[in-house]
Amino acid sequence: MKHLLGICDLSAQEIKTILDHAQMYADGLSSGDYDAQKHKGKIILHLFFENSTRTLTSFEMAAKRLGAEVINWNRETSSLKKGESFMDTIDTLNAMRPDTIVLRHSEYGAPNYIAKRMDCSVINGGDSWREHPTQALLDALTMRQHFGKLDGLTVAIVGDIAHSRVASSNMGLLTKMGANVRVIAPLELMPEKLAAEGVDKFTDLNEGLSGADVVMSIRPQKERMDKVLIHDAAYFNDYGLTHERLAHAKKEAIVLDPGPFIRGLQISDELAEDKTRFLYAPQVANGIPTRMAVLDLLLEG
Ligand code: NCD
Repeated sequence: MKHLLGICDLSAQEIKTILDHAQMYADGLSSGDYDAQKHKGKIILHLFFENSTRTLTSFEMAAKRLGAEVINWNRETSSLKKGESFMDTIDTLNAMRPDTIVLRHSEYGAPNYIAKRMDCSVINGGDSWREHPTQALLDALTMRQHFGKLDGLTVAIVGDIAHSRVASSNMGLLTKMGANVRVIAPLELMPEKLAAEGVDKFTDLNEGLSGADVVMSIRPQKERMDKVLIHDAAYFNDYGLTHERLAHAKKEAIVLDPGPFIRGLQISDELAEDKTRFLYAPQVANGIPTRMAVLDLLLEG
């Protein structure tokens, strides 16, 4: 594996290899027994053209937990502001020979474009509504830790399916790994064509939740909408997750959210505070071993 650009490029076996490697790092981080200097001397360049809290910080922690150095390139202080083109910025940074680049960009397929121009590995930290592969991997790791498997799980993805790269990558990964996947959204947020075959569409929340093991909430991505597509109070009323709504899913169902999550729009305060059902904190924590695994596999490759 030279790059990680999307789940669409990975086989089920490759996904399993990454998840096994991530689990090894998850165990190592809790016991303290792993090689914390494995990639000493390596330099990872973070090129984030969009805002990020979880993804950027956990990539940085992952690199540092492996002994690597990180440079967080800053769009605001860069020469892009002086009129340099994106392509020339990329060629300039490539000439400095980083060991890996992590890119987040609003353009569809931007990581594939820069992977062709770079000599080093490129990791997609999220592009447009297309793919966010490390998020889907850490979500899968969280589900696998909780249920011991992915095969046969019923996963209901609720929210802005049309504009979400997290929903796209999760549909791709989970169907490849044998899960039953559904998406639940109002028609305005439901794309005509889904990112994966074999995914069922629901517009009614209670129907879509019925029999689900995992409920994954996806934020309405207002910054990607060119007009008002939802009204907050009506959205919460029809698609907001509460304990009452969750009772339609399996008794032991868990709720995940890639974050940032919006209380009172996507999820009630009570459910957001219920650590037995809403596994957001372990999900965020899994970002680090997952990204350590991806960095390790690419730096070694
Ligand atoms: C998401 C993203 O930016 O794609 N967040 C994340 O990376 N964990 C989802 C979002 O912004 O809603």
